[in-house]
Amino acid sequence: MKTSSIHGMWSSRLAFVLAATGSAVGLGNIWRFPYITSENGGGAFVLVYLICIALVGLPVMFSEIVIGRRGRMSPVNSMRELADDVGASRAWMGLGFLGILAGFLILSFYSVVAGWTLHYGFLYLKELFGGAGITDPNATFGALLANAGELTFWHGVFMVMTVGVVALGVEKGLERAVGILMPVLFVLLLILLLYGVSTGHFMDAVAFMFKPDWSQVSGGMIVTAMGQAFFTLSLGMCAIMTYGAYLPSHVHVPKVGTAVALSDTAVALIAGLAIFPVIIAFGIDPGSGGAGLIFTSLPLAFAEMPFGIAYGMAFFLLLSVAAWTSAISLMEPAVAYLVESTNLSRKSAALTVAVLGWLAGLASVFSFNIWSEVSVGGKSVMDAIEFLAADIMLPIGGLLTAIFAGWVLSKTITREELDDKMHDWAFKGWLWLTRIVTPLLILVVMAGILGVF
Ligand code: PHE
Ligand code: NA
Repeated sequence: MKTSSIHGMWSSRLAFVLAATGSAVGLGNIWRFPYITSENGGGAFVLVYLICIALVGLPVMFSEIVIGRRGRMSPVNSMRELADDVGASRAWMGLGFLGILAGFLILSFYSVVAGWTLHYGFLYLKELFGGAGITDPNATFGALLANAGELTFWHGVFMVMTVGVVALGVEKGLERAVGILMPVLFVLLLILLLYGVSTGHFMDAVAFMFKPDWSQVSGGMIVTAMGQAFFTLSLGMCAIMTYGAYLPSHVHVPKVGTAVALSDTAVALIAGLAIFPVIIAFGIDPGSGGAGLIFTSLPLAFAEMPFGIAYGMAFFLLLSVAAWTSAISLMEPAVAYLVESTNLSRKSAALTVAVLGWLAGLASVFSFNIWSEVSVGGKSVMDAIEFLAADIMLPIGGLLTAIFAGWVLSKTITREELDDKMHDWAFKGWLWLTRIVTPLLILVVMAGILGVF
């Protein structure tokens, strides 16, 4: 059993929790969760999402950490080693490749949206120094999307920030940044929550988010909820598996896995409870949705809040930091694989992935302007990439991960990695979820996509 990885190790249990939480908490919570909750009518969607977190997300989270820590390499090579260990087919390496591909696709559009948040952060910064403010949020957002050059620039800035950290490797700077800046972002969300309460529309937001309207339940809605559960927890594409490879052997997997899932879920729910009161208070239909939701609604609140300009700047810049720590984990599996399997140094490997990711991201950039007429199965180019990666590839990756951890790895191995002193009932519970419940739920939902129901 290996106790360390060639790519470095987290210095402590806390370092892993911070890094994995940094990966999980990002645009998925504050940009994507509100907008797709909105598009799917609220209540029932949030409920299905929470069920997916508990019955699919948690077991896959544990499985990924177990596989990564046992293999101690990039996903492709960890899968090869573990398959060899238990005499299974090396075709399981395909899970690693699928994960790397999904991560690459997600990185491509994620960086574009992170570029929007950087742009907004700088808009508010300029306003602090006397620049023109955002007076008409719809117009400001529309102008940004129409400007391919501007979008490409900020997408590039974000990719440079990401490659910088990945090239340097798993190091102190990242751990410290996450440990300080993420709590600050959380406090900012709480302030927005207070503002939301002051609008008098907090209970309307609670009703929208938690009062299930069963007529909204459909195959498509369930697919989206499950995709979001994977996306928000960074699961199904081997990111957490890769971070698990750098996890010291003594750390208790169920504890850290649960901590990461709970924090991520808390941030998403609080973000929703902070944002929907604003949306309702300013007369926007909470079901109006769209990827621009937070960019067209929140500036209305920032224009009225005390210190709203400084707040807006801090909010969008910290959101970029949250996106940054997620993007790092989107890039790491591919980079670790290239370092292991080619002659490339970490720096060159990171640069290669970043340049390719930046180029691929241009498809998302153009989907708002040059290619705005192009439709792929009724979706814009960026929506189609988002759907393919998050709603299809992540659940397939999660399905394979659960099957591998539950059925292919031996119980001796999984038990040893999870916790050798674990109570029998707890281990059996995990095994039952991972072997039966999780794969079955994913399969049923996937069958929904194929139109079986
Ligand atoms: N979990 C991140 C978010 O919610 C996105 C992400 C997905 C990161 C997959 C890594 C892997 O923003
Ligand atoms: Na998340």
